[in-house]
Amino acid sequence: MRALAAVAIGGFLVGIGGTALAASHGKSVYEQTCIACHGADGKGSVPGAPDLTRKSGPLAKPDDVLFKNVKDGFQTPGSPMAMPPKGGNPALRDDDIKAVINYMRKAFGF
Ligand code: HEC
Repeated sequence: MRALAAVAIGGFLVGIGGTALAASHGKSVYEQTCIACHGADGKGSVPGAPDLTRKSGPLAKPDDVLFKNVKDGFQTPGSPMAMPPKGGNPALRDDDIKAVINYMRKAFGF
């Protein structure tokens, strides 16, 4: 209940606050679109989803590579599942993707 209220309030503040709240915006994008496959802790909750907290893992790649892979989707040869374009949410804009990448870097360590 408490968490739900926080998410609702977060969404409202982003609506009126714009870029000043980009960090909390990234969090709400992650919680709405990415968490199902990548998990709250970033370690992955479906087969094929990578551990985003690994030091030499996906987040070691530069922002522009991550941006492209999240926006366009991608699949490593032999991987059991593809990363869907925009995490399967066509409503995501470029700014949303940048915000969620920033959030992942903060939340998962680097
Ligand atoms: C349907 C499940 C699913 C959803 C939803 C999803 N992902 Fe993924 N994601 C994957 C899988 C599977 C991979 C690994 C694909 C591979 O290596 O073949 C991946 C890989 C990634 C990577 C690693 C990129 C790289 O270059 O190695 C990032 C970053 C990422 N996802 C971010 C996100 C973000 C941000 C969202 C939400 C906007 C999201 N994902 C939503 C399944 C998902």
